[in-house]
Amino acid sequence: MRITIKSLFEQSSDYIGKKAKVAGWVRSVRNSKAFSFIVLNDGSCQKVLQIVADEKIEDYTKVTELLIGSCIEVEGDIVESQGKGQSIEMQALTVHVYGKTDSSYPLQKKATSLEFLREQAHLRPRTNLFGAVFRVRHQLAMATHKFFSDRGFYYLNSPILTAVDAEGAGEMFNVTNMDMANLPKHKDGSVDFSQDYFGKQTSLCVTGQLEGECFAMGMGSVYTFGPTFRAENSNTPRHLSEFWMIEPEVAFMDLEGNAQLASDYVKYLISYAFEHAPDELEALQKYHQFSAKQAKEPYENHLETLEKVKDSEFKVITYTEAIDILSKSNQKFEFKPEWGVELQTEHERYLAEEYFKGPVTVTDYPADCKAFYMKQNDDGKTVRAMDVLVPGVGEIIGGSQREEDISKLIAKMDALGMDKDPLWWYLDLRKFGTAPHSGFGLGFERAIRYITGMKNIRDVIPFPRTPNSCDF
Ligand code: 4AD
Ligand code: MG
Repeated sequence: MRITIKSLFEQSSDYIGKKAKVAGWVRSVRNSKAFSFIVLNDGSCQKVLQIVADEKIEDYTKVTELLIGSCIEVEGDIVESQGKGQSIEMQALTVHVYGKTDSSYPLQKKATSLEFLREQAHLRPRTNLFGAVFRVRHQLAMATHKFFSDRGFYYLNSPILTAVDAEGAGEMFNVTNMDMANLPKHKDGSVDFSQDYFGKQTSLCVTGQLEGECFAMGMGSVYTFGPTFRAENSNTPRHLSEFWMIEPEVAFMDLEGNAQLASDYVKYLISYAFEHAPDELEALQKYHQFSAKQAKEPYENHLETLEKVKDSEFKVITYTEAIDILSKSNQKFEFKPEWGVELQTEHERYLAEEYFKGPVTVTDYPADCKAFYMKQNDDGKTVRAMDVLVPGVGEIIGGSQREEDISKLIAKMDALGMDKDPLWWYLDLRKFGTAPHSGFGLGFERAIRYITGMKNIRDVIPFPRTPNSCDF
């Protein structure tokens, strides 16, 4: 039976002097007269297995002809490695070639750009770098479930198809099965959605929050973890049209509790990655070091910085304080910081990177910058919102205490000119047994970017969807 390279290294002392069978993709081959050195990775871990095949094995010429990217299965003896950095290696007895490649295989040994690899998104899981990123991604997903489940939260699957614009931003992808070339129309020329599949206009969700609130108001503490879709026209290193979001929602929790939960969660993610993906983080660190050197940029030790964050308290400031800090800084911003206007990425990054040199939670934003559901402060100007900003990325979490007072909520919806009918059930939560409650959404890919140190969000999701790009 085949053993993964991960298990082989984990149990290396048991395997020394014994036979094993591995299978994977060739990272490199070096041929000398009587030997071939094959470096094999099977994706189970960051490590590679060195395999020595000598001319005595059957079909030795086939081995010498192997190219990078070929898929092989090898049975051989596990021996202690002579080379440095490796505890064990394999002396091949038989090599079976599952699939050859040729010289047109796009992932050759020489360094390839991330842009190029995005065009080869079907093959990039075979690289050292993307193996690391996606194994960290896996660990962070596991960490998420463990963190919330251990704290008594229930995992909720909120719907993906929806008829409400829950963030009120209108950036939704329509869902229809109507014949686009022959749309049913009203007399005034507008589309008659009553003839659509659901009998009304529907979209892909931009959040699962409102449904999360329904469950928090019955089950106490819940969290969602699912895909979210936004038709924003933002071509930036931190925006995706399809991304994953984790949204906890908690009854009887105020904004302070929410901010605490958010920082506990982010710190837990970091600790979990250190514990469960140390080789991956190490490999990423090496990659960033190398890239910085190539670009002649200064390199800040990413792992050391993360290590500090995991044991630190996040600073909490109000939006008004943030504007004050930004206005008094001598920083040249493209957009002048101004009270009443949402913070720009450059402002967020200045606060986290330059000023606080670590994550910072900003609370109590102007009501006009934020969604309708946020709890209104007594000042009549601000709401109980919070964003968690981190170095390198900016906002990774957005959340708030929710408005639980039905009359205030209705007044806000009316002031925004919102149609209340589709949200009758959301209002019901305030009509029947309302309670203070809070929650937030963590952009999964932004958190992965932060922890892996990758600079572009397209490189931390398997197959990125962005404006004008929906390949694979
Ligand atoms: O700040 P947002 O829009 O908040 C909400 O959706 C709330 N319903 C969350 C809640 O209170 N339950 O989005 C939350 C997070 C952002 O902080 C960001 O990390 C991420 O989702 N995000 C995106 N990530 C990638 N691409 C995009 N286009 C994103 N838009 C938001
Ligand atoms: Mg936000």
